[in-house]
Amino acid sequence: MESTFDKSKPIAIGSDHAGYDYKEDLISFLEAKGLPFKDFGTHSNDSVDYPDFAHPVAKAVEDGDASFGILICGTANGVAITANKHKGVRAAIGWGEEITQLAREHNNANILCIPARFIREGDAEKMVDIFINTAFEGGRHETRVNKMSC
Ligand code: RB5
Repeated sequence: MESTFDKSKPIAIGSDHAGYDYKEDLISFLEAKGLPFKDFGTHSNDSVDYPDFAHPVAKAVEDGDASFGILICGTANGVAITANKHKGVRAAIGWGEEITQLAREHNNANILCIPARFIREGDAEKMVDIFINTAFEGGRHETRVNKMSC
């Protein structure tokens, strides 16, 4: 099933130092697929604080300036917790193909958070591909997603 993401808008992508190498790989992946993206940093392996990158990515999704977001840190917990403070953001941690697919189908996740220190090379690309190309199922899942905000 094809996703309903607006492909005319950029994908917002960001990481801390632990996710930097994966972010650069994913940027090459998005470029090869001809998908527009906006890189919110970080731009090196130097130690940084993940909220400084998770907030701008989440804000781009919250404001509708990005179709969806990709965030990478060591565990994915820090970026996911930070991103989920933003209204309308549903940031899900993906560490495998099926859980990533279900994050779209059941939770209508709009930010994929990747744990760089707990996945194998190549997994991040596969998960992003699944995230982009999987649609929200709606129905009973929509009823549940509509109850998330507080
Ligand atoms: C950085 O060492 C690490 O704490 C960070 O990448 C992330 O795992 C935090 O949740």
